[in-house]
Amino acid sequence: MKAALLTDYAGPEVIVLRELPEPVPAEGEVLLGFEAAEVNYPDALVVSGRYQTRPPLPFIPGKTIVGRVLDARGAAAPARGARVIAHVEYGAFAERVALPAAACLPVPQGIGAADAAALGLNYQTAHFALAARGGLAAGENVLVLGASGAVGAAALQLARPLGAARVLAGIRSEAAAAAALADGADAALRLDQGAELREQVAAATGGRGVDVVIDPLGDALTAAALRCLAPCGRLVVVGFAAGEIPQIRSNYLLVKNVGVLGLNWADHRDREPARVAAAQAAIFALFLEGRLRPRIHRRLPLAAAAEALGLVARGGLPGRVLLEG
Ligand SMILES: NC(=O)c1ccc[n+]([C@@H]2O[C@H](COP(=O)([O-])OP(=O)(O)OC[C@H]3O[C@@H](n4cnc5c(N)ncnc54)[C@H](OP(=O)(O)O)[C@@H]3O)[C@@H](O)[C@H]2O)c1
Repeated sequence: MKAALLTDYAGPEVIVLRELPEPVPAEGEVLLGFEAAEVNYPDALVVSGRYQTRPPLPFIPGKTIVGRVLDARGAAAPARGARVIAHVEYGAFAERVALPAAACLPVPQGIGAADAAALGLNYQTAHFALAARGGLAAGENVLVLGASGAVGAAALQLARPLGAARVLAGIRSEAAAAAALADGADAALRLDQGAELREQVAAATGGRGVDVVIDPLGDALTAAALRCLAPCGRLVVVGFAAGEIPQIRSNYLLVKNVGVLGLNWADHRDREPARVAAAQAAIFALFLEGRLRPRIHRRLPLAAAAEALGLVARGGLPGRVLLEG
């Protein structure tokens, strides 16, 4: 079977398509036939050696796979032919993958492989950021920074189904503003142009501020967003796409009665699989109700994994990049 293989932490361009031995599922495992996989920013970080974990070389990148069960060993395994989604640390970009049956979550009837893949990692991250870490309660206001990005767009779409009242999008272009409003934002706020974020948030919330900030950006935007929190508000640190890892002044947290929480979704995946399965089922149900709309920008064959990772690494895309089998 063919797989995308990384032999050196030198970035997407060194990925090669290799013929590898067929994986054989052990007891308690299933063999999946690849249908689709989303290519994500964390995948681009991994292959450049800039991610928090570095798998031993050579390895197959890819953190989410959607596929059909070809073979299954063990009573608890899903039925042959079933379509499932699995979240893994790496190894998704291969024609066939053997993995624990417990990692395979059902994809409901009515959801195609491409949509299922696009409803994976980023929607999971956004769901955990809003609910598990941000503690979003019904009627609260949410500000999503980096709202044009993969995690940001998912957070915008999920915020209202998870109970948010007003949903604000932090963006830096007119195209991103239009996309954010289409994704359910009540207002699009400029993060560039020197506009004061706190004043924009105050104007959009009747002076109250936001209860939850989803922050995939970091840099100076974290401090600016902290100043937008209502009393007892929470800022969830998701990533540092804007550059620097910011230092946070704890006296400000004390004076304003606000909190900063981190999200490492992969840690939830590994420690709390039942919670991840419940979130995935909720995400799929919301999609079937027409409340989520993943924006797919490019669909490429598995053989084009290097090109797909290069596109995602360069950024600025209006939607997701998928590999298809
Ligand atoms: N904590 C976790 O478990 C977890 C899970 C998944 C991802 N992440 C992290 O989350 C971050 C975002 O991932 P993603 O997949 O959403 O990335 P993405 O799709 O590439 O989106 C990046 C976003 O950042 C914005 N941006 C970049 N530089 C900026 C700047 N200087 N000022 C304002 N906005 C800026 C982009 O805006 P434009 O569209 O205007 O360029 C875009 O909205 C990454 O750091 C990723 O590693 C963390």
